[in-house]
Amino acid sequence: MSLRAKLLASYLAVVSLALAVAGAYAVRQIEKRYTRTYAASLETQARIIAEAVRPHLARTQDYAWVEQVAKAYEWRKGAYVGVRDPSGTKPHLGPSQPPPPPEVLQARQGQVATAERWDEWAREVRIFAAAPVWDGGRLLGIVHVSAPRLWVERQLQQIWWAFLVAGALALGAATFLGLRISRSITRPLRELEAGAQAISRGEYGRQVPVDRGDEVGRLAQAFNRMAQQLAQTIERIRAERNQLEAVLASLRDAVVAVGPRGELLLCNRAAAEMLGVPQDAIGRPLREVLDLPQLLSLLDAAAAGREQSEELRLPGGRVAEVTCSPIRGDGNPAGAVAVVRDVTDLRRSERLRRELVANVSHELRTPLTSIKGFVETLLAGALRDEDNSRRFLEIIEAETNRLTKLVDDLLELSRLESKGVTFRMQPVDLGELCAQVAARHQPRAEAAGVRLEWQAEPGVVATADPDRVEQVLTNLLDNALKFTPEGGRIRVSVRQEAQEAVVVVEDTGRGIPPDDLPHVFERFYRADRSRTRSSGGSGLGLAIAKHLVEMQGGRISATSTPGHGSVFAFWLPSAREPVPAPSEPSTGSQDPRTA
Ligand SMILES: Nc1ncnc2c1ncn2[C@@H]1O[C@H](COP(=O)(O)OP(=O)(O)O)[C@@H](O)[C@H]1O
Ligand SMILES: [Mg+2]
Repeated sequence: MSLRAKLLASYLAVVSLALAVAGAYAVRQIEKRYTRTYAASLETQARIIAEAVRPHLARTQDYAWVEQVAKAYEWRKGAYVGVRDPSGTKPHLGPSQPPPPPEVLQARQGQVATAERWDEWAREVRIFAAAPVWDGGRLLGIVHVSAPRLWVERQLQQIWWAFLVAGALALGAATFLGLRISRSITRPLRELEAGAQAISRGEYGRQVPVDRGDEVGRLAQAFNRMAQQLAQTIERIRAERNQLEAVLASLRDAVVAVGPRGELLLCNRAAAEMLGVPQDAIGRPLREVLDLPQLLSLLDAAAAGREQSEELRLPGGRVAEVTCSPIRGDGNPAGAVAVVRDVTDLRRSERLRRELVANVSHELRTPLTSIKGFVETLLAGALRDEDNSRRFLEIIEAETNRLTKLVDDLLELSRLESKGVTFRMQPVDLGELCAQVAARHQPRAEAAGVRLEWQAEPGVVATADPDRVEQVLTNLLDNALKFTPEGGRIRVSVRQEAQEAVVVVEDTGRGIPPDDLPHVFERFYRADRSRTRSSGGSGLGLAIAKHLVEMQGGRISATSTPGHGSVFAFWLPSAREPVPAPSEPSTGSQDPRTA
């Protein structure tokens, strides 16, 4: 039953009860009063008739006749008028009469009296009145009148009806008012209900109208305050959660948290990428979506309270370091969280460092062993042999030079790698620079019987450090000369390519095997060790060149056809927009100069 129906029902119940009690009481009173008034009017009737029959009774004792006269006063059909002698009986009816009724007995005492009782003769309840007929001090007779009680009741019935109609009207009015009152009470409650439902649907901060100052109005105000607070709290929580998510998402480490039953609580983007955990798997058991038994058992152990760290092999050959810790909510174990860090690169650079130490030691040892050997030979007596001493000392000098070069290259490389080198960037005319460097190598090329030529598009200007570009070019030319046999040809060219300036060094030397090609820019890497060792190279030249080019914002590449030659090229950012294509063919306005 709705509140409104309850209100209305109780309201109507109260109103009808009040109406019923008041109506019953009023009717009861009216009934009493009316009966009394009716009896009084019967008394008056009796008195009047007594007055009327007095002269007749004064003259005659014939009560039957006088009664006949009195009957003319019967005022309505059904009313009764009788005359009795002073003893209260009717002499003409003989001795076998019933005793006189009480009102008649009272009238004998000289009073007018009334009574109400069942009348056996009329077979109904009637109201009686009796009045004495006086003449001087003498009682002449008694006038006895009566009327049916039914007449009173008929009158009363009409009153009853009036009351019923009035009651029904009152009840109708009460219903109308009750409806309005109950609506005015329940309407704000309904609005509150609608507001609460809106909040439960997620419309936090929904307000309800407040247009009254009573308890319901205050309830609405409190509701609005609560809704506002709720909206603010939810907003704050949302912001905090977003922040947390943003932090987690920006972590490079994978974070995976599971609940006490092994269900996935949280997983960030790195976890999706590194471990392949789908991000929509939140709530599902982790072992259904993650196929890494090692990580799962670590999480189990952590959930049981044992914090653990281990190295983890990831699919795809990557290596990670994982730390699992228990989550404690209110002191109870509430799952575990794993932080997985991809350490593949770290491990690789550790390995490279170890290899570097091994390589450096190895590279240093060879010349040192050679020097030691010749010095020992000299000390053992070869010093006395002038010719041999000189030859040995020359070898020692060459080995020392090689050591010095090696150490210099190492220092250079380590300075470059630790970014301890400053570049003085400026516009560099690459054509000019290449011409200078090539010209400087000319004597060596001539000595080796190799043709060295160079060629440049005009106005190719790069933003670079000229000393460093020279260093790179020297390294490439050095290699080309080293690996190109007599009769070969080396060609340096400079050209513009979109936003970049390119320098290409081509040779017709022995080339680089395809297996070695991807590694030539690595430290200490030498294709065909036995032959290059003799050429005195350290295997650091190209590594240094690559660093230098990249640190100037460029890149370097090598291509080769084994047996036919190699092509090394490096690109540097242009200092200006590419020059519009000249009207002449662009094969170079500057004639290639030949050795
Ligand atoms: N122009 C070239 N022709 C053939 N092989 C080359 C050429 N340039 C470099 N290489 C190969 O690359 C290796 C590494 O070169 P580099 O780093 O300059 O070391 P190094 O010159 O000290 O040997 C060389 O040992 C050689 O095997
Ligand atoms: Mg070299």
